[in-house]
Amino acid sequence: MAAAHVLVFPFPIQGHINCMLHFATALVGAGIHVTFLHTDHNLRRLGGRSSSAARSPLLRFLSVPDGLPDDHPRSASDLPGLYKSLAGGATGPYRALLAPLPPLATGGPSSSSRAADAGADPTGGFPLVTCLVADGLLPWAFDVAEELGVPAIAFRTASAGSFLAFLSVPRLFELGELPFPIGGDLDEPVRGVPGMESFLRRRDLPSACRRPKDSDDDVNPALRPLAKLSADNGKARALVLNTTASLERSALAHIAPHMRDVFAVGPLHAMSPAAAAASSSLLREDDGCMAWLDAQADRSVVYASFGSLAVITHEQYTEFYSGLVAAGYPFLWVLRPDMVMASQDASLQGTAAAAAGDGKARVVAWAPQRDVLRHRAVGCFLTHAGWNSTLEAVVEGVPMVCWPVSADQQINSRFVGAVWRNGLDMKDVCERAVVERTVREAMESDEIRRSAEALAQQVKRDVAAGGSSATELDRLVGFIRELNA
Ligand code: UDX
Repeated sequence: MAAAHVLVFPFPIQGHINCMLHFATALVGAGIHVTFLHTDHNLRRLGGRSSSAARSPLLRFLSVPDGLPDDHPRSASDLPGLYKSLAGGATGPYRALLAPLPPLATGGPSSSSRAADAGADPTGGFPLVTCLVADGLLPWAFDVAEELGVPAIAFRTASAGSFLAFLSVPRLFELGELPFPIGGDLDEPVRGVPGMESFLRRRDLPSACRRPKDSDDDVNPALRPLAKLSADNGKARALVLNTTASLERSALAHIAPHMRDVFAVGPLHAMSPAAAAASSSLLREDDGCMAWLDAQADRSVVYASFGSLAVITHEQYTEFYSGLVAAGYPFLWVLRPDMVMASQDASLQGTAAAAAGDGKARVVAWAPQRDVLRHRAVGCFLTHAGWNSTLEAVVEGVPMVCWPVSADQQINSRFVGAVWRNGLDMKDVCERAVVERTVREAMESDEIRRSAEALAQQVKRDVAAGGSSATELDRLVGFIRELNA
């Protein structure tokens, strides 16, 4: 049997790169060669910053063009643009990586792919690719792989719950639960997502299920394509999810009949010390906030971050800011330079920190989030409930206050507030008094803290040797090796 060599190909945005890099390091830990595929643009941004813990003779980083000009702003709000251009820009070089020829031979389409550590040997001594694990958002990557005889596995970076909601979209239409009626109550229960009948409301469905604003359309034009992408992942040899049975047992059971096989191997960042240390931040982390946290009392600080993509209005910024100040705890707030709409004003950060009072707040453009959540001073996490952020908080047992912005975050936050009860869900409300009250409750509630701690213990058992996710990862490694037998 030739050595297994997996090409791991994430959609090139932060939340997807992070968990697929953790996945790559987990495969490397199992002795499998991995090529991790960035875009040229992202690999340039990462520069030498790929953490040494992610480096191994079995792991290499290559890149393909994303189809956009070098000086394109690649704004977080233009994901559809990136989605389209990537297929155009990357397909040729990507095909060359998979073709049964030395992947980086000079000349031909592969010449635009480059190794992060380009050395004399263009293949880096790596065997031919025997398996593709690609982001489930990249159907063309699957088609090319299977056409070239390389078996393809789909990886979804969001929760099983949100994936199941997308799989359930045809049923929601059949049942008349979609489209939502004009002016209908978003608190109405939803019956069409199996296993979630007792707690899911319209407002908890992925945001693409809502009626589009400022349009006569009943249905968001992205909804059916997103649902089809999820259904089409069923054609792949298997589906890998960054989740665990103890968090999402029911959703996993309902997904299984739609897929050829399903592997729940998360939370991947908690799988191994190497995965925990692997950093792939496209923005530079401001480590200075760790020293600031060191000077704070245990569980006294509110950590606030809305992930890598969310954009908020200036009014929303003011409500959060006022609510955080009124709650009265020290806070550490991640304000990305592109986060507050129509305000590329870096001084916003200084203003927010200064106005909170001497030393009471620290505002950074990007934080080492997993280290922050692990810090003893952090008492709760005000978050958009992106799936990575949710898992990172769950593993550390940090109570959450969720204010979901888009996509899968609506359903993740419902699980936090109504199923796991490790936090509170303030979706669709952005008022300073609610921010103040909710943050206070998350900081002070023994019940929430106990739930958060119990959940963390359970999830840590899942990723430890013999736990459900560790066992699933072993099964997946065997599955990948068998594909190649
Ligand atoms: C979005 C979705 O909501 C998510 O569910 C999906 O799978 C990917 O796209 P994003 O907005 O990036 O993701 O949020 P999240 O999934 O939480 O990922 C953000 C990542 O950036 C986390 O791993 C977090 O640790 C990291 N981060 C965030 C930092 O390292 N520093 C920061 O300051 C903020």
